[in-house]
Parts: sequence; structure tokens; C-alpha cells
Amino acid sequence: MCGIVGYIGNKKASPILINGLLRLEYRGYDSAGIATMEDDKIVVMKNKGRVSSLYELEGIDDLKSTMGIAHTRWATHGKPSKENSHPHMDNSNSFAVVHNGIIENYHELKNMLKNEGYKFLSDTDTEVIPNLIHYYYNKDKTDDNNKLLRAVKNACNDLKGSYAIEILSIHNKDKMIVVRKDSPLVIGKGYKENYIASDIPAILSYTKDFYLLDDNEIVELTRDEVKFYNQDLKEIKKQVTSIDWGTASAEKDGYEDFMLKEIFEQPRAIRETVGAKLDNGCIEIEGLDFTKEYLQSVNKIYLVACGTAMHAGLVAKTVFEKLCKIPVEVDIASEFRYRDPLIDEKTLTIYISQSGETADTIAALKLAKSKGAKTLAISNVIGSSITREADYSIYTHAGPEIAVASTKAYTSQVVLLNILGMYFAEKLEIIDKDLMKKLKADILILPSKIEEVLKNTDPICDFAKKVYKEKDMFFLGRGTDYAVSLEGSLKLKEISYIHSESYASGELKHGPIALIENGVTVIATMTNPDLVEKSISNVQEVVTRGAKVLAITSEDIKNDGLNQVIKIPKTNEFISPILSVIPMQLFAYYISKEKGLDVDKPRNLAKSVTVE
Ligand code: F6R
Repeated sequence: MCGIVGYIGNKKASPILINGLLRLEYRGYDSAGIATMEDDKIVVMKNKGRVSSLYELEGIDDLKSTMGIAHTRWATHGKPSKENSHPHMDNSNSFAVVHNGIIENYHELKNMLKNEGYKFLSDTDTEVIPNLIHYYYNKDKTDDNNKLLRAVKNACNDLKGSYAIEILSIHNKDKMIVVRKDSPLVIGKGYKENYIASDIPAILSYTKDFYLLDDNEIVELTRDEVKFYNQDLKEIKKQVTSIDWGTASAEKDGYEDFMLKEIFEQPRAIRETVGAKLDNGCIEIEGLDFTKEYLQSVNKIYLVACGTAMHAGLVAKTVFEKLCKIPVEVDIASEFRYRDPLIDEKTLTIYISQSGETADTIAALKLAKSKGAKTLAISNVIGSSITREADYSIYTHAGPEIAVASTKAYTSQVVLLNILGMYFAEKLEIIDKDLMKKLKADILILPSKIEEVLKNTDPICDFAKKVYKEKDMFFLGRGTDYAVSLEGSLKLKEISYIHSESYASGELKHGPIALIENGVTVIATMTNPDLVEKSISNVQEVVTRGAKVLAITSEDIKNDGLNQVIKIPKTNEFISPILSVIPMQLFAYYISKEKGLDVDKPRNLAKSVTVE
């Protein structure tokens, strides 16, 4: 999705802006551009294609300004083209704007502005914004310091939809204005300089101190100062949040791709997510103070999320139901928000989101809140939108995840959900002490077991080389092995563009086995000793029909008759997906590499889906 960067300070702005955009490339985009305030005019440079192509534009080296705005566009309204890329200017070339989000009523606004004599050069919804600001700026006959702020505020009052906007104006050559509603934006605080970004990694190499914006806040930035206003232009105070992500965590660090680096970072991500939660007697989770009485009153838990995060919820359903004896429903956020779910104040709703900015997940949370349900957010990004909406927030500590395909965030979510389930069970006093001890020990030793799995990559790479030309593949499993197979199948689709389906093994005979024929590839996960006999029978059924099977089993499970087997260390069924998903992540990775695809930036996908 689109990315935003901004700078005002004493250094040359254009390299900072382009560098910031390069760091946002992982979000997915089709064009890029910057606008800087050069002496008495705003200069816009933009292009379809890669951010690096901005360096080739004539005149880019002549830019001297120390303030500017920048954008990577992921086309929504109008095809990818130079004309449609941002920044956009108003008709008088006085206001430059970049925008993330969607203006839902842009047709109506465009018609209104056309009637006022404005002309439009692009097909975008964004172009109405600078013209609307110009319209209100000209209408305002007062000439004071707040004139630009008022024009921006009035324009925003007319906008319906979601937006994060940066504005540069020749009327205020030492100021920049930004505003957000339902689209992420942060301000990075420096010494005599300030930064703007839609995502923290864009400016992490310049500052660790951030102001996190809330909806409908308008911000005025100068070199020395950042002033925050509410919708009525009343000044408000905001706290600085320090982010402890190292710069190196947003670098490839010698790995060929971010995805590979992030797969190998999983032992550390799990260690940091577990932190000190299991250290002293009872489990403690910072930010949570649930009582036994409250948890006893909960009649249902909803786990709501999208994509990979939803798959983490599917694994966790078993943990909550088996340990806490509370019924759990796992819901896709985009479905949940529109299906009038049965929720009330006895429902606990949990939202899982790596970015904390996924539009559907946030909307689902707002809906549940409006119906009186308690809301708990799990995110990887401190201060992200979802954590500011929720009643309670807890964090995975995976560090920035740059590759579009989620890996370390998923395993960190699964481990945190496990700990949450154990925390509830402990509070409810319904878990056997020895079992609890064993589950805690299993989690504490998990990072070293992940390290073991990561030592055995060759057989996965070899198998990937054998099957990378296939058009279809199948993933099978039972219980949590099925839940993790869904994630394996998603990884493969995302980065290798191979169609794949995941089925609960017991479902095979109810239809999908009709697709199994000579040479079809099947990835079968069988780590649960209680279910393994049944799973092996299912695998035999596909082998008999000519399937090539890669089995992922734990070391204690016998696998007579199977040729390709990846063994993972034994652990309990709740967290075995954290180990078994790793061969699947690597399998998808190696296939993508074998096909020569862009692993980190798969086609059509964006890292955080901030529009519906
Ligand atoms: C897949 C992937 C997506 C995200 C989904 C939710 O690899 O990354 O399916 O899991 O878009 O994103 P978050 O977790 O940021 O809400």
C-alpha cells in the first residue's frame, strides 16, 4: 500500500525523502514522487516505477531545499502512471499534497470543484485535496498565521473516507501540515529537524522518538517545533514514544532477502516475545489485569484477524478451548464486521495484527466495542492504531517485519496467544499445576528447538527444486497441524504464485481426493501422536494415487513407507505449529527463488492493508 515520508530540518531533503521511500518499498507500490520547497516554488518530481528511478530524473540533483514530502503509490483510483502518482498540486501550484487512503466522496467533491472552475489532470481521488485546500484558503479573508491550518481543517471536514495527508504550501515556506484519519502516520522528533512517515522503519535510522498520531489530529511542523491540534484547532499535547527497534532490524544484514532473514530471526523473536512472562510463579503479561471473576463471566472468545494473523488465531483456538474451557470462534475481520456477530459485554474479542493498521481488523474492533464487548489487541507495533482503539493491548516483539510474507510475526503471535491462554487458565484456576509447568518449560525451550529446525534446510531446498514447476499443491493436517497447513499453503500462494489448497485430512474423502493424481505434490504435517495413525492412513491414500509427499513429522513419530520426511523436535500440540511452519516457510521461499521471483515484494500484495 502507499507510503509517506516527510522532512523539515537543515539537511538537504531530497536524499532523506528518497531514502525513506526506499525503506518503504516493501509495502508494495507502483510509482513514487517527491515535492520540495525550492526558494519561491514547489518542485514536484515523480515517476511510474521504482523509487530508485527518481535518481534518474533530470534536475533531481539540483534540489536544494531542506523541506519536502514524498510518496509511494499503490494504485486504487487510476492506473499506475506519472500523472496519477503523488504529489499532486492544486491548479495554482500553491499546495502540494501526498495522500494515503481513499476519499470515498471524491466524485462529488470533484464535481463541486469543477463547477467552481477547477481543472483536474489525474484520475485520482487525491487530486481533489490540494484543490479543496486552495478553495478554502482563497475563501478565507482573514490573514493570520493559522490561515493554512484553517484551510486544511475545512477541506478535511468535507472528506469522507480514510486519509493520511502531508501538505506543502508556498504560503508558508517554513511549515508543513499533516493530518490523519484511519490511516497510519507518525512524526519523528529530531534536534532542529522533524520527520514524517506512514511507517516507523522509513525514518528509524534518523530518530527513535516518535509522536503517534490519533484520528482527526492536525499537526503543524517547523524545524524547531511540532504543534498538535484537534478537529476544532485547539492545541493539544502529545507524549513522545521511544521505539527500541535497532536500525539493523530494518536491514538485510547479509541475507539475500528480508524473508530469509526474518525466518532465521524466529528464535530471537520468540525469546523476546516470551520475555520475562514465564519467569516468576504465575504468568504476568504487561498491560493485562484480568481477574478470575471477569474471566468466569466470559461466555465466548472471538479471535478476529486477517490472513496469516487469522491463521495464528486458528492455532490458538485449541489452546483456549482445551485449557480455559471457553468456546472460541475465529473470524476473518472482513466477514466479522459485516455479519452482525452475536456479541455483548460477556464476549471477549481479541484482535491479532502484526501492523496494527489493518483496516478490516480495526473496523471489527470498533464494531465489537460499540456492542459493549471487551477488546484486546495483539500487535507487533507499539502505539499502532489498533492498540490505541482497544481496551487492552499486548505486544509481540518480533521487531520490524519487512518482507510482505509474514513469518516471524506469525510464530510470535502463536507463542503469545499460547501464553495468553495459559494466563487465562491459571487465573481461572482450572489447569493442573504439572501440566502448566510442562507447558511453560516447552515454551522456554522452544527457541533452541527452532534453531535445530533451521539447521536442516537442505532437504527442503532439494524438494523445492524438484517440484517448483508444478501448478497445484495440497497441504494436509489434523488439529493444529491442519491450522498450520493453512498458513503453509498461504505462504506458497503469496510468494511462488502456485495455486495450493489446505485440507483437514479427514475431509479428503469428501471431495478433494478427486484431484489427486500421479505426480501431484502433497505437504502432509503429522506432529500430534494422538492423531498420527489417522493422518498416516490419509497420506497412504494419496501416495497410492501417485502423489509426491513431503511429510513434516515430529521426531517421535514413525513414518514407515514415506520417502521425503522432515523431522522436527517433539513438543506439545499447542506450539508444534511454531516448529512445523518453518519447513513450510522455507519451502515457499526456495520455490520462489527457484522461479526467480521477488520474494520480499510479491506481485499485487502490500505489507499492511490500510484500506478495505
Ligand atoms: C501474509 C500476510 C497477510 C497479513 C494480513 C494481516 O503473509 O502477511 O496475510 O497477515 O494482511 O496483516 P496484519 O497482521 O498486519 O493485520
